[in-house]
Amino acid sequence: MIKLTVNGKPASVDADPDMPLLWALREDLQLTGSKFGCGMGLCGACTVHLDGQPVRACSLPLSAAAGKKITTIEGISASKTGKVVQAAWVKIDVPQCGYCQSGQIMSACALLAAKKSPSDADIDQAMSGNICRCGTYNQVRAAIHDASA
Ligand code: FES
Repeated sequence: MIKLTVNGKPASVDADPDMPLLWALREDLQLTGSKFGCGMGLCGACTVHLDGQPVRACSLPLSAAAGKKITTIEGISASKTGKVVQAAWVKIDVPQCGYCQSGQIMSACALLAAKKSPSDADIDQAMSGNICRCGTYNQVRAAIHDASA
């Protein structure tokens, strides 16, 4: 049994410690906001926070998350930054198909928690691991600027 703290609440998962965290979140804990895209740590659709840092849940073994604070898109609005970022996403109308957007928001929140007023270059660097097939990059950038205002 692996003990986790997810969105501020204790959770335990009876699974192989080498299983990716994403599986535990989606299948065992029914937190399906974090998406499976590439499964190889390349697209960012599965991004969650581990002790406040963005990580790729598809490539992180469950054992590495034990005892750490995990935040998913379902819990991000509990923080002020999360609330502001989600409001900016709605205001700017960022999503198109929406599939990558939970990961985009999680990366954006981590950026803004670390840097209150990021430049375009900061944004491009922080968001470079989040791929969007619809090409919402300009809207993502605008929403991050809006959230940082
Ligand atoms: Fe994890 Fe693509 S599904 S990075």
